[in-house]
Amino acid sequence: MTSLQQHTNTQSDAHSSFEPEPSVKEVVLTGDRPTGPLHLGHLAGSLRNRIALQERCSQTILIADLQALTDNASRPTNVSQHVLADYLAVGVDPERTTIALQSDLPALAELTVLYLDLVTVARLERNPTVKAEIELRGFARDIPAGFLCYPISQAADITGFRATLVPVGDDQLPMIEQSNEIVRRINRIADRQVLPESRALLSSVPRLPGADGRKASKSLRNVISLSAGPDDIRSFVGAMFTDPAHKSVSDPGNVEGNVVFAYLDAFDPRTEEVAELKRRYREGGLGDMVVKRRLVDVLEEVIEPIRTRRAAFVENEELLQQILMEGTARASDVTASVLDDVREAFALARRRPMAR
Ligand code: TRP
Repeated sequence: MTSLQQHTNTQSDAHSSFEPEPSVKEVVLTGDRPTGPLHLGHLAGSLRNRIALQERCSQTILIADLQALTDNASRPTNVSQHVLADYLAVGVDPERTTIALQSDLPALAELTVLYLDLVTVARLERNPTVKAEIELRGFARDIPAGFLCYPISQAADITGFRATLVPVGDDQLPMIEQSNEIVRRINRIADRQVLPESRALLSSVPRLPGADGRKASKSLRNVISLSAGPDDIRSFVGAMFTDPAHKSVSDPGNVEGNVVFAYLDAFDPRTEEVAELKRRYREGGLGDMVVKRRLVDVLEEVIEPIRTRRAAFVENEELLQQILMEGTARASDVTASVLDDVREAFALARRRPMAR
């Protein structure tokens, strides 16, 4: 049925110098909860990855505003446009990456409702990431049902695009596992492959710590946004945790666990110079101030063009709205067709005719 198969059929030709079809493109889906502006940790951990992936994959980024509401219903924020401006400013290209708004894709909500029937409460309570988040937020039995179920809605996100590759941090592995369990259930119910399973794509760069060395988190105020000004950058770096045992310049210092070096590793393109700085720091004789001053310059170099581009996008609200509308319209087609396939698996009527 595909041109790939047709090509295989012609392989018996003695003269087989034709170019083989490139392997089927991976379908990539990622998402962010829009709870605030994106920060440098996002740039190192996921945004750079997405910019590379859009070159060779069919990629969708979902602004997961409904998921953000699952534990923020009493504090709704409307920052989706700002997150979109962040994406565009760092170089996500809306021509090549579909950027879509979760709350404007009703098919995802319907998929979630259907999937709710396939997952037990016990299974949800076993999800290690949700468990940790429940603890962090101090929820007990008063946990919002939507929050407990967000792995199901995330399975709807992933399968709603027939995604095969999901770039995520390792804390999201349980979500992909949950999604694949749902996929297998549906394929078994329908006795054919309705949905593909997906794989995680883990970032190869280590997770960036917050300035204080703890987990980077907006609520801990230890991160710096992609639109930070020079003063913010200076005070962010100034407050960075280094090595408490490195008291005077001549003391030998620790590079591991040292936030300044973690950021230099992530953002300073002159890796050989950084290696030399590390050597001198370990040996003793290199002060925190020198390394911090360098990091301020490096971060300004990284952030300055993002800040400028971002400001221009924020000025142009009409353009932002149009980009989000177009992306969401494209996504709406895909998700509606997946919903039909899943409805059919549950013996519900399709809403539109079978695709050819
Ligand atoms: N849970 C993800 C996070 O907190 C965000 C997310 C929502 C997501 N939907 C997704 C990630 C689909 C990957 C795929 O970062």
